[in-house]
Amino acid sequence: MEQLTLTRPDDWHLHLRDGEALKAVLPHTVRQFARGIIMPNLKPPVRSLPDAAAYRDRILAAIPPGQTFEPLMTLYLTDNTRPEEILKAKDSGFVKAVKYYPSGATTNSEFGVTDIRKCDRIFETMQQVDLPLLLHGEVTDPDVDIFDREKVFIDRHLIPLKQRFPQLRVVLEHITTSDAVEYVLNADNIGATLTPQHLLFNRNRIFQGGINPHFYCLPILKRETHRQALLKAATSGNPKFFLGTDSAPHTRTSKESACGCAGCFSALHALELYAEAFESVNALDKLEAFASFYGPDFYQLPRNTEQITLTKTTWRIPDRVPFTESGLVPLRAGQEMTWKMA
Ligand code: DOR
Ligand code: ZN
Repeated sequence: MEQLTLTRPDDWHLHLRDGEALKAVLPHTVRQFARGIIMPNLKPPVRSLPDAAAYRDRILAAIPPGQTFEPLMTLYLTDNTRPEEILKAKDSGFVKAVKYYPSGATTNSEFGVTDIRKCDRIFETMQQVDLPLLLHGEVTDPDVDIFDREKVFIDRHLIPLKQRFPQLRVVLEHITTSDAVEYVLNADNIGATLTPQHLLFNRNRIFQGGINPHFYCLPILKRETHRQALLKAATSGNPKFFLGTDSAPHTRTSKESACGCAGCFSALHALELYAEAFESVNALDKLEAFASFYGPDFYQLPRNTEQITLTKTTWRIPDRVPFTESGLVPLRAGQEMTWKMA
């Protein structure tokens, strides 16, 4: 197959940052995706409807002239979020979900939730008005091994949460384990996003020939058996599994540091990376639904109608994307890709 025509995809999990960083990264996403679920972990986070409205305006202002992109906003859940904020968010029409970060789990999660049970009033309201909950599904307990954090989150928090709120629609974000796949397959009112890095690489990649900080993200890459389970889920044609890049730009110097930031920057070539992953298991015929149908179906939004084309051709991923002096290093920088979006 030399060309692949797909309905234009959307990115159901995206970090766009703010200010100059937003201006540097947004054009890459706009080139590939029609819409994106925008993560609220700014400094300070997007906690209220006015925060979300103002951030949305800044995103819209950063779209390159003549192009279109629809930012689908989220609110950052804290211990102090009030039910009224949820009602206002739902009424706004442009806030599509609420994001749960366990406090301390990842980048800018200091304002996150300290105890998920404290949020039951919020979950009750979200269930009532049918506003989805997006989970960073990891525990932060320092006694739990970093590779087990997702599974322990599911057992300790997600299973009880779904028992308390069976109708609450949940997305388990950026899943990384076969345990998450199994759980999502067997539960109701739940979907999951999958990133290109978790479909393409296992944890060896972080340490191949030395330490590779550009492959460090959270949840961290897992062992090969988990990668295979994720790839199987993504290419299964099950609508519970859909595209969410988790493209999370950090400057090169903040990644290549004694205490490097977590996040892979994939906005430049996300769709091509997914195409490679799907092709590796002869499942290119399943890419369109994963990338363009199941996400809007979950969010109860119309599917896009425009089409895009991927062509089989070799090209080299640039070493840097311009941003500050340091630049941003795309995922798998300097290496060859075999698909290219026109
Ligand atoms: O690797 C990650 N980077 N994981 C997250 O959960 C947050 C993200 C970021 O914002 O940099
Ligand atoms: Zn993320």
